[in-house]
Amino acid sequence: MNTRSLRFRMTAWYASLLAGALVLFSASVYVGLHRYLDLSLRRLLTEQAQSIGGELLIQLPQKGPDWLKSEINEHYAPSENARFIRVNRNDGGLVYLSEPPKNESFDPAVIPMHPTTGAHDYASNVEISGRQKLMIEQLTFRMRDGSAYAVTIGAPYQQVETVLHGLLLTLAGYTPLMVSLAIGGGYWLMRRALRPIDVITQRAEGITSTNLSQRLPVIQTGDELQRLSTSLNGMIARLEGAFQHINRFSADASHELRTPLTILQLELESIAQHAQLPRALAEQMGSALEETQRLSRIVENLLTISRLDAGEGRMEKVRVDLGKLAVSTAEQMHLLAEEKLISMQSKADEQVWVEGDRARLKQVIVNLIDNAIKYTPKDGAVVVAVTSDGRSARLEVADNGIGIAADALPHVFERFYRADKARSRESGGSGLGLAIVKAICGAHGGEVKIVSREGKGSHFIVELPLCDPGKHRKFDHEKVGEDGRPGVWTTIART
Ligand SMILES: Nc1ncnc2c1ncn2[C@@H]1O[C@H](COP(=O)(O)OP(=O)(O)OP(=O)(O)O)[C@@H](O)[C@H]1O
Ligand SMILES: [Mg+2]
Repeated sequence: MNTRSLRFRMTAWYASLLAGALVLFSASVYVGLHRYLDLSLRRLLTEQAQSIGGELLIQLPQKGPDWLKSEINEHYAPSENARFIRVNRNDGGLVYLSEPPKNESFDPAVIPMHPTTGAHDYASNVEISGRQKLMIEQLTFRMRDGSAYAVTIGAPYQQVETVLHGLLLTLAGYTPLMVSLAIGGGYWLMRRALRPIDVITQRAEGITSTNLSQRLPVIQTGDELQRLSTSLNGMIARLEGAFQHINRFSADASHELRTPLTILQLELESIAQHAQLPRALAEQMGSALEETQRLSRIVENLLTISRLDAGEGRMEKVRVDLGKLAVSTAEQMHLLAEEKLISMQSKADEQVWVEGDRARLKQVIVNLIDNAIKYTPKDGAVVVAVTSDGRSARLEVADNGIGIAADALPHVFERFYRADKARSRESGGSGLGLAIVKAICGAHGGEVKIVSREGKGSHFIVELPLCDPGKHRKFDHEKVGEDGRPGVWTTIART
């Protein structure tokens, strides 16, 4: 458990505050009830003593001690009610003493007198007598004839203690239960409260430079969370603007460079073809022409990639048999392989249909085969294969060439990255081929993976989604593709 997390800290605070409040509450309830029960019992005993003193003792001189005994026994039944009652004359003479209680929990004979002074003097105490605690109240009554009597009355204190004990047990049992419930509830509540942040975080993690048009969900809470999501969306919008600006700039720059480069290339070609050129100059012209062609290729690649980035690369959505496309492309590039005495095999499953832009998909195959041939030494082998697993189409281009070092592997799809700069430049590479492959795969909802070991060869795997089999397609002979090829597939809903 992460003890620094907001959820943990808030729950801990909440639980400690609740526990503190509950302990305080329990303590005050306990003290309050203790006082109340104490006071009630005292009041009851005082009332009983007063009624003995006020109603019975007045008649004592006329009616005698036996009458008093029977009156007290009849009205207060001390033995049955576990009450202690004693009436003493002031000179110490005993007038009445109650019988021991039936349960013999205390002995009335051993309960001491409390010294009192003045009329209606009062003493109160809790005594331990035998096995029991007794609450004792003692009142002094002065008669008209000058004599004085002390009425002492006691009741077991156990009743009060039993109630208090019960309360203590209840509080001790319920307080931890309430705190545990508060911890569980608090944790759950915090989780609920923080869930929108989780959603924002997950969505934010999925937003990269390629899908900056996406936005985070705005939580309509009218508080900091809503402000956070709107501000983050504002930031993403500004980033999107900046990215678009950069992409448009690269696309515009590449586009602008294209025409002068083509003119330059044509001019150089026409000069190079001039028969009377001195040999040295002709060689220089040839080299300049090569460089111009290289430059044109780079500009063309840059234009492609920045258009894909900006989402401007108009993509046809046609049904393409990836297997056939790969096999025919491999055949077209056969000469390139033969030049280096590399054997090239291509095989494909039947009917591996994907939906996308034919020219772009072909570019993926060309770039991968071009690399395989370029980075495989003489007498090597290149295999191109297309298969389908029912869910996605798989294009594989494998070679047994120089391979890629483990530290270079994560970078090969980066723009202008070349694992071996000297060799790559020699072969005319600019490091944009795989970046284009990745961008095209991404635009088709697919991905490209690589397995390679230095000195052993490389294996590129492109996975593209197969055409949705739930849709019925019909061939539209009238429609003509951008490149002039007829036969664009259109999708119509199944009826
Ligand atoms: N089949 C392969 N075998 C070994 N290394 C490879 C292979 N394919 C790519 N690489 C390495 O990855 C780097 C990047 O490849 P990428 O195709 O992007 O650039 P390039 O081939 O150098 O230039 P370009 O494709 O733009 O002409 C290459 O420079 C090369 O070092
Ligand atoms: Mg390449």
